[in-house]
Amino acid sequence: MAEQLTLSIIKPNAIAKNAIGAICSRFEQAGLRIVAARMLHMSLEQASAFYAEHQGKPFFDELVGFMTSGPVLVMALQGEEAISKNRELMGATNPANAEPGTIRADFADSFTENAVHGSDAPDTAEREIGFFFPDGLCKRTR
Ligand code: PPS
Repeated sequence: MAEQLTLSIIKPNAIAKNAIGAICSRFEQAGLRIVAARMLHMSLEQASAFYAEHQGKPFFDELVGFMTSGPVLVMALQGEEAISKNRELMGATNPANAEPGTIRADFADSFTENAVHGSDAPDTAEREIGFFFPDGLCKRTR
C-alpha cells in the first residue's frame, strides 16, 4: 500500500456544529495523520479558483456561496491510501446516499452543505494541497 497525502476541508456547516474534534478524531482513528492545518474564511475569488473545474455547472454559485459563508478548516492528511481512506470516511457526496456512520451521514445538511471535502485522486490532491499550502508542509521528525 502506498503512503499518500490528501486535502481535507471541514466545511462551514460542520464548523458551525462545533464538530471539528469529532471529525478529526475519525481521521486519526483511521490512521490518517494531520500534517498541515489552516483555518480561514475564503473569499469569493479563492473559492471560485479552488472550484474552477465546476465553473458553469448549475450548482457553482450555491457551492461558492456556501464555502464563503463561514470559516473552513483545511488540512493535509497523510497515511496509507489516504485518498480512498478519506473518501470512505466521508461517505457519498450526496448525503442522501451516504452510508450510516460516515462523516456526511452524521454531519451533512444537504448536497451543498455536505460537511467535508476530500481530494479524489493523487494529481488533484497535489494541486489542492499546493493551493492552500504553497510553502509546502512541515517535515515529520518522529
Ligand atoms: S460532479 O457532479 O461530478 O461535478 O461532482 P463532484 O466532482 O463529485 O463534486 C461536486 C462538488 O460540488 C458540490 N455540490 C454539488 N455537486 C453536485 N450537485 C449539486 N447540487 C451540488 N451542490 C454542491 C459537491 O458537494 C462537491 O463539493 P466538494 O467540496 O468537491 O466535495
